[in-house]
Amino acid sequence: MRHFTSVRQLGNLQEAFAKAKYVKENPFADQALGKNRTLLMLFFNSSLRTRLSTQKAAMNLGMNVIVLDVNQGAWKLETERGVIMDGDKPEHLLEAIPVMGCYCDIIGVRSFARFENKEDDYNEKILNEFIQYSGRPVFSMEAATRHPLQTFADMITIEEYRKKDKPKVVMTWAPHPKALPQAVPNSFAEGMNLMDCEFVITHPHGYELDPAFTGNARIEYDQDKAFEGADFIYAKNWAAYAGENYGKVLSTDRSWTVDSRKMGLTDNAFFMHCLPVRRNMIVTDEVIESPQSIVIPEAANRVVSAQTVIKEILLSL
Ligand code: CP
Repeated sequence: MRHFTSVRQLGNLQEAFAKAKYVKENPFADQALGKNRTLLMLFFNSSLRTRLSTQKAAMNLGMNVIVLDVNQGAWKLETERGVIMDGDKPEHLLEAIPVMGCYCDIIGVRSFARFENKEDDYNEKILNEFIQYSGRPVFSMEAATRHPLQTFADMITIEEYRKKDKPKVVMTWAPHPKALPQAVPNSFAEGMNLMDCEFVITHPHGYELDPAFTGNARIEYDQDKAFEGADFIYAKNWAAYAGENYGKVLSTDRSWTVDSRKMGLTDNAFFMHCLPVRRNMIVTDEVIESPQSIVIPEAANRVVSAQTVIKEILLSL
């Protein structure tokens, strides 16, 4: 594996889970692999889990780590070609990327959808420029359309907690005051299409995701019906994808908040969320604090997913 931008690149899923299990049980077994190698973690957007878990993963592998918050302490970067740079951005991304590549062996990039230009977002303009111009292996720490390290951690968590060969996994939209990208739900849908599960997506009308990601999922507009018999509830907000409404908040209807009544419709389902989560918008205090909530082990698996992926990239160097 040279670049990692989608869980589709994991290859054989059972082998990927076995590699993740080995990493989880033997976190320091590959310290020599990363010796004298440097990971540059580049953030265009805020992060808690990705920042800490990816750094921890790289340190477990014996790597040196440089973390750069592009918007705090670096020159402001112009991203468009052809711009007369007489404004407040003194450096162009097309110089900055190869320069950054000179200082490291692997680059992790976080660059969210901007909701300014759907085509740029869905073509992964920024992430692909890093792949094209850095001369280094690049992995996504959440890009415009996918969050593969989160999804791989989610898949590992479902594999660990499932009680059935083919569990029912329900991804439910839930309300949020701000417009959030579709990266997590797109990526989760991509992952569930790879796993052996019954996958259902429930959301209000107008929140349909790109079918390229939802694949074989059953779309159910009645949230109660979707929850019936579920083994895993994966809650997430996303802004509208389709047409003119791209990037818009169409609803903050709190009747979609995941609460104990709805969890009571499931087959004692586990509750999952990638975090950060807005309590009593996405999920009630009661549900997220319940024994069925596995959001913390899910977050802990972020180290495992990142370490498994970085290890594969190191092996390819
Ligand atoms: N789930 C996740 O990516 O969390 P952060 O945004 O805090 O990194």
